[in-house]
Amino acid sequence: MPIPTPHGGQLNDLIIRDESIKQDLLNKIADLPKLKLTERQLCDLELILNGGFSPLDGFLNEDDYNSVVEEMRLTGKKGKDGKGLLWPIPITLDVRENSYKVGDEVVLIDLRDDQPLAILNIESIYKPNKQNEAEKVFRGDLEHPSIKYLNENVNDYYLGGSLKGINYPKHHDYIESRKTPTELRKEFESLGWSNKKIVAFQTRNPMHRAHRELTVRAANDLGEEAHLLIHPVVGLTKPGDIDHHTRVKVYLEILKKYPKGLATISLLPLAMRMGGDREALWHALIRTNYGVDHFIVGRDHAGPGKNSKGVDFYGPYDAQELLKKYEDELEIKIVPFRMVTYLPDEDRYAPIDEIDTSKVKTLNISGTELRHRLRTGGEIPEWFTYPEVARILRDSIA
Ligand code: ADX
Repeated sequence: MPIPTPHGGQLNDLIIRDESIKQDLLNKIADLPKLKLTERQLCDLELILNGGFSPLDGFLNEDDYNSVVEEMRLTGKKGKDGKGLLWPIPITLDVRENSYKVGDEVVLIDLRDDQPLAILNIESIYKPNKQNEAEKVFRGDLEHPSIKYLNENVNDYYLGGSLKGINYPKHHDYIESRKTPTELRKEFESLGWSNKKIVAFQTRNPMHRAHRELTVRAANDLGEEAHLLIHPVVGLTKPGDIDHHTRVKVYLEILKKYPKGLATISLLPLAMRMGGDREALWHALIRTNYGVDHFIVGRDHAGPGKNSKGVDFYGPYDAQELLKKYEDELEIKIVPFRMVTYLPDEDRYAPIDEIDTSKVKTLNISGTELRHRLRTGGEIPEWFTYPEVARILRDSIA
């Protein structure tokens, strides 16, 4: 299967590489207003610039914003069927006050090192209806992490417009594992995977045996020639998650546990929204841009779990259902999984829909239970995770 075409047909790469054009831009910068980006905006900017968010070539303008919130579609960019291209999550640039005007250019600055990253050509300035955004995009529960973020951190005006890229935000860790869509597509070619099926695994948590089993099974089910991309998020995840430094150590350890040549890894600088089903659709579009043709969606994909009253923000398989609905419009195929669990009597893992739970014993250690055992020095059994992984996790909280 050839590497899929990017969402909308073309992979954006918005960094200006022509030296004389770039020099003109740099000369102009001194006279332009500057805007320091938040951590989330930096993540979004990186993926707009490197094509991970293709077809977006900037922050959403008002029409696109409204259409994304209401219908999960862009207005200006249409697919072969004439419908607006799918885009389920608003990618917006919020500012405190409306001191700009349409037509202005603004330099977007990295808050960590003051480097200029891009110039935004302002095409629209608008005041979003945050309550509507919260309800339509994230289902309205005030405890949802993205609704909290919207209410507590997001400013009242959004700037929309296209970008000219100057630099990517700088990273100092795991540089060799942070691959842009263009780089990852090249890597697939050099590995000889261009005509093979490649299935991507999204994660924001440490990987354990269940995840290794699930991903090997996903690749094997696609046939002998299929490969696997471990594609963890190292931008922003759910508040309280294990930090990405610890997780990357775990992923690099887990990578050694796969059959030789089956898997590769790339780190994704995404700011997750924990948007459940909408987010799963977004993840699938992003992975299309990264050159992958299959995508794993398991139990409660990108869901934030339960609210303080114990109510689930999303149903466990809502993400699979939404993706099923839009499968005809996607270049990427979804590989759904029911809950994968351990069968102690057979010493193996299996999806719950393949076993008779009234007859077969199952075992599981929840994230909360794992954290408790790590803190108290409790046993972390080998059926659950590899000793190397347990050691990394113990070290991280020591
Ligand atoms: S997520 O926020 O990135 O979705 P996580 O890293 O826990 O969270 O999960 C990554 C992917 O693995 C998701 O598709 C999720 O549904 C799936 N997954 C994780 N654990 C299991 C499991 N035990 N059974 C089935 N799917 C799982």
